[in-house]
Amino acid sequence: MSPGFVELFYLTATALFIFSLHWMNNPRTARRGVAAGAAAMLLGVLATWAQPFVVNHGWMLLAVVAGIAVGYPLSRVALTAAPQRTALSHAFGGLAAALVGTAKYYLWLAEGPEELTTFRMTAIIAEVILGCITFTGSLFAAGKLQELKWVPQRAVTYPLQNVSNIALLVVAIAIGTWLAVNPAAPAAALLFPAIIVIALMFGILLIVPIGGADMPTVIAILNSYAGLAAVAMGFVLENNLLITAGALDGSSGLILSIIMCKAMNRSYLNVLFGAFGSVQQAVSEGVEKGEYKADTPESAAQIMGQARNIVIIPGYGMAVAQAQHRIRELYDHLKKRGVSVRFAIHPVAGRMPGHMNVLLAEADVPYSDLVEMEDVNRDMPQCDVALVVGANDVVNPAANQDETSPIYGMPIIEASKARTVFAIKRSKNPGFAGIDNALYFDERTWMLFGDAKHVVGELIKELAEESSIH
Ligand code: TAP
Repeated sequence: MSPGFVELFYLTATALFIFSLHWMNNPRTARRGVAAGAAAMLLGVLATWAQPFVVNHGWMLLAVVAGIAVGYPLSRVALTAAPQRTALSHAFGGLAAALVGTAKYYLWLAEGPEELTTFRMTAIIAEVILGCITFTGSLFAAGKLQELKWVPQRAVTYPLQNVSNIALLVVAIAIGTWLAVNPAAPAAALLFPAIIVIALMFGILLIVPIGGADMPTVIAILNSYAGLAAVAMGFVLENNLLITAGALDGSSGLILSIIMCKAMNRSYLNVLFGAFGSVQQAVSEGVEKGEYKADTPESAAQIMGQARNIVIIPGYGMAVAQAQHRIRELYDHLKKRGVSVRFAIHPVAGRMPGHMNVLLAEADVPYSDLVEMEDVNRDMPQCDVALVVGANDVVNPAANQDETSPIYGMPIIEASKARTVFAIKRSKNPGFAGIDNALYFDERTWMLFGDAKHVVGELIKELAEESSIH
């Protein structure tokens, strides 16, 4: 294929990547966005494959088969596991960048060290450092999210942790800077592997002090590192598509992490270096627990059937229970009775941005009945019933009231202001942040203990029975 055609294909792929991101902004066009992204990827691979320097087609085929063998099972994982699945993708991207950078360095070193210009070496060093950090950091983060036994879930801290971590990174950058100027010096043969080892270690040490509740944000941050590694790889391979696609990947990861930090009212540095989880545990231990009042689906259904307006607040538990279709049925039953039903969506409910929107869209809940947090909070004092379905941290009043709480300042859905609150969860365990929730001890709150899908099913049954009697 002529270079002109290759560039045209690359340009088309870049445009498709940009449109893909744009379409992903809206649930209605998100599927189109996924298709556009996949088409862009395919164009990029085919245009690269068709270039004359690709002579070993067997290796290309092997890469395609290996990619499908890993990619297909990854596409089948449950939505609740999407953050760790995404982390694994970033780990592969980081590993690819680090391997390409290392291979290029040793190839140029053997075939013509004069090719190792300071610019190219800078790109190689950036690619290898970012790639290695992304690789081990993402693997470790995926392990935490998957709750693997041998990976500590909570933030692990020790004295001088941040200082020693940053010192390690500074050492890697210092060696890298020296190598960029002296790529073929005798010591380089030892120092290049040293950078790889340090960056691999730094990736793990960066994640160790980060608590479970911050992991989704960290995944987005690692996304931006993977994108930057791809940009550096683009400079090393002189490939424009890699540079633009990497820049889009890196910036979207960064924007996403900033949006998440804002929604949690946390700073970027606090997420990375704040050791959030360890503080939470300490606070949680000190909390004095109140009394839970359990209710039955029967009496809850009676009250809900007589309410004028109900706000349903879904959280991570709805995703775990896959209760969205039952929730839709409950919505239909209540609507038939003339009850106004709306869904209050917190921006960080669940484990990824838009998690609740995606699940409710899957169950065909009308978009017009999904309300943003700020709007619903205004109406909460007039709300007859707030039905909390597997949400915890996002309705925890400690965020508004308790200055010592680690989630203090995080905007929440003010369910506690509703006239009656029904909360569905399986146990008295805290939410992801690991802190108790005073909403559940409130005099207006009634617990409906059980799996969300089961409890909502019971509520529907009771409402249906009531309707058939009247
Ligand atoms: P959580 O605070 O994690 O609470 C979920 C609740 O669901 C738990 O208390 C759990 O209680 C219950 N649950 C689990 N499985 C259930 C089931 N099968 N049936 C019924 N209940 C079930 O969730 P949330 O309120 O959605 O808050 C999200 C958390 O993730 C926040 O801390 C947020 O900061 C963090 N986070 C989210 C994001 C994004 S982008 N979404 C990003 C960063 C951080 P039981 O175990 O007792 O059932």
